Amino acid sequence: MLSLTTVESLREAVKTWRTKGNCIALVPTMGNLHAGHVKLVEAARKKADKVVVSIFVNPTQFGAGEDYETYPRTEKEDKRKLEAAAVDGVFLPSVRQMYEPDAGTVVSVPTLSGVYCGASRRGHFDGVATVVTKLFNLVQPDSAFFGEKDFQQLAVIRALVRDLNFPVTLHGVVTVREADGLAMSSRNSYLSAQQRQVAPLLYQALCQARTTILSGASARADIERQAVLFLQEAGFQPEYFSVCRASDLKPAADTDTELVILAAAKLGTTRLIDNVCFSR
Ligand code: PAJ
Repeated sequence: MLSLTTVESLREAVKTWRTKGNCIALVPTMGNLHAGHVKLVEAARKKADKVVVSIFVNPTQFGAGEDYETYPRTEKEDKRKLEAAAVDGVFLPSVRQMYEPDAGTVVSVPTLSGVYCGASRRGHFDGVATVVTKLFNLVQPDSAFFGEKDFQQLAVIRALVRDLNFPVTLHGVVTVREADGLAMSSRNSYLSAQQRQVAPLLYQALCQARTTILSGASARADIERQAVLFLQEAGFQPEYFSVCRASDLKPAADTDTELVILAAAKLGTTRLIDNVCFSR
């Protein structure tokens, strides 16, 4: 596995692979890799000759007071996991490699970036769209793999690829969960033992709401209110719990058949997100 820390070395590796006619898949990450990330790598491995994983804790997607400084950085362990997953190249740039000190260009997908997670994390999705654009330009992959765990992020990137005509095929990968249902996340390590016991109730609330909808209930606002109450009683501070149309994340109408329920809630200072996507 090539360990690439500069833009030049990455471009060189990509050029060599391209000359040989290899097709390339990209899996962007912020590191602290878990089984969810590995699942993306395995999906990429099946589709491409060469798999590149980027590990970059992207400062522009963190807001003031968020966890940029404390975000877990576990480079050695991450590299070991990627090697075991037969990755061809890991791209580990410094902040300076990715952003010139006076870089001011921002890529924005305003239709999807101000709601749900974007409402409380102002500028977050601009940071994501900008860094993903840069990674696409650097690697020029044929395909790129993202988790459905971050459903809104995936929607933002789909819009980005469509609107800016990136010649990249996107693949969404289903969420990998712990045995008790909690969606795997690098931020789960922030939970205390007691919070870790409570955390799976977020997924339970989502599954309960899905069951209610599939049994024929259509009063979206009631379903959302009940779930928020359930989460509050369990000790969460819910941020949103929204039954949406899967295609554009607008509030679901009774006639919509492809749905996603998006939720974010805090346990203490740790913010958890999850979703369930289904047809009715
Ligand atoms: P990160 O949180 O490291 O996630 C990297 C990729 O792994 C994302 O596509 C995310 O949706 C996926 N992922 C995370 N947890 C998962 C799980 N439990 N099951 C399946 N996939 C999962 O998301 C980011 O980094 C960044 O915003 C990034 C896209 C790299 C841009 O900086």
